[in-house]
Amino acid sequence: MKRFRPADMTEIYALRADTIDYFFPDRKDEIKSWAKIAEKYGDDVLHLMCGTGEILVGLAKEGFNVTGIDLTESMIYQAREKFEEEDVEPEDLIVEDARFFKLGKTFDFIFVSTGDLHHFLDKDDIDKVLGKIFAHLRPGGGVALELFEPPENDFKRPEKRHRPLRDTPKGLKVWKLNRSSYHSDSQILEIVEKLHVDEEGEIIESEYDIQLKLYTKKQIELILDNSGFENIRHLYDKDLSGKGHDSWIVVAER
Ligand SMILES: C[S@@+](CC[C@H](N)C(=O)[O-])C[C@H]1O[C@@H](n2cnc3c(N)ncnc32)[C@H](O)[C@@H]1O
Repeated sequence: MKRFRPADMTEIYALRADTIDYFFPDRKDEIKSWAKIAEKYGDDVLHLMCGTGEILVGLAKEGFNVTGIDLTESMIYQAREKFEEEDVEPEDLIVEDARFFKLGKTFDFIFVSTGDLHHFLDKDDIDKVLGKIFAHLRPGGGVALELFEPPENDFKRPEKRHRPLRDTPKGLKVWKLNRSSYHSDSQILEIVEKLHVDEEGEIIESEYDIQLKLYTKKQIELILDNSGFENIRHLYDKDLSGKGHDSWIVVAER
């Protein structure tokens, strides 16, 4: 067995780009939910931290003009392949940092899914991302962030095995071992994960830590308000929260 320990966020996600989709259930209903929120604002949609682009492909099939941004090149590579396979066109797929992008155009709707805003542990970074979203929204345009609920109490969960939620191609086996802990003082959820990829008998194990900073609704409202957003409200959607974690969506407008 070969072992890897990636050093930073892009290395972690580069390692996961080929297999991350297997750990999502079918996302058709989730895509419909995003389409329902987006259609109130218009056709031009930007998915920040879009990963392999599965949601974007679904939205493109629904008729939206879609742009995706992700920091990890191999995620954007996967997204390009998906668009080709599904024979739909993105407006653009861009390798960029969500804190620093500048596209010279505005969108009707910008969203961050799967709690990805939690990757930014510093308030400064959150402010940068929200500043970029604000600058790239047309006046009256909408932002939606899917976030995780902070647990009420600290916890330390023992290692658990996760199987793929979809069929993998013949000859490929993937599974994850994952343990987590939550610290209410810092509001940090720490996940230590070992990803195993067995391709025709050659097993590669990668171990990495992901830290996510979880916010209360009040904190998020204040952060959005300070960034200039209006009409801030929370939505719960069973098709988004049905993914097995407690997520909610905060929506606001420029
Ligand atoms: C859990 S994955 C994305 C899943 C995707 N949102 C979805 O719904 O399918 C998190 C993504 O965030 C990206 N990412 C992490 N830090 C980033 C940053 N500073 N700017 C842009 N993308 C970033 C990673 O490359 C990774 O693809």
